Amino acid sequence: MEVKEAILERRSIRFFKPDPVEEGTIRELLEAAINAPNANNAQQWYFVAIKEEGLRKRLREILIEAYLEYLQKARKDIDEKTMERVRSAISSGLYDAPLYVAVFSDLRNMMLREEYKDFEERMIVQSVSAAIQNLLLRAWDLGLGSVWLGVAKLKEGEIKDLLGISEGLTLEAVIAIGKPAKIGKKRPRKGLEEVSKIIRSLALPPFSPPPQREPLELSLPIS
Ligand SMILES: Cc1cc2nc3c(=O)[nH]c(=O)nc-3n(C[C@H](O)[C@H](O)[C@H](O)COP(=O)(O)O)c2cc1C
Repeated sequence: MEVKEAILERRSIRFFKPDPVEEGTIRELLEAAINAPNANNAQQWYFVAIKEEGLRKRLREILIEAYLEYLQKARKDIDEKTMERVRSAISSGLYDAPLYVAVFSDLRNMMLREEYKDFEERMIVQSVSAAIQNLLLRAWDLGLGSVWLGVAKLKEGEIKDLLGISEGLTLEAVIAIGKPAKIGKKRPRKGLEEVSKIIRSLALPPFSPPPQREPLELSLPIS
């Protein structure tokens, strides 16, 4: 598959078939992740792929708890009708995947001086994000669906305990992966003019980006 096709056609998948993901495929996904650009080529990341059934079941429960906390406590715009849709998605198997990859920043070997710690941590998160995107695109290329679960961060302690992860590693996200049980339609993007500008001349008036408008749709990730 062309890179362009993977980028344009990929979409988040949140319902999966139970078919296991082959060990060789898992290695290909992780290979894609570790080949991402990363700050200093320091590769301050760590990936834990979870195939084992009992662990997956418990992890999914934690992810659902995290998602409910996110919707009920963090989000400003969720009403009871929406929560009914969410509960129905949960009972239909939302986020239940044959493979999860937990992605960590590894802060044990910092490259920069102490006063640049915050800067380095932000660089590491950017590097980890590049790795995740590589993994998502490679999964799509291999006919697999995936979803980037940022809500996992809300339950970092529980997930680290579950996986037996030591100090020094910071959970950034969990990726759920598997054959898609259903492929929703592509979620719309804002127009280029709204979110970008090409600078063609040095005679620039001061400018600021146009104000953000309301989301195009209620951005509820359950399909
Ligand atoms: C940093 C980040 C965190 C995300 N966290 C979640 C999440 O916790 N749950 C979820 O269902 N989707 C999550 N997503 C997926 C987004 O909802 C999704 O990418 C977005 O709605 C655009 O849809 P698309 O991926 O199908 O193009 C996350 C994506 C990113 C980049």
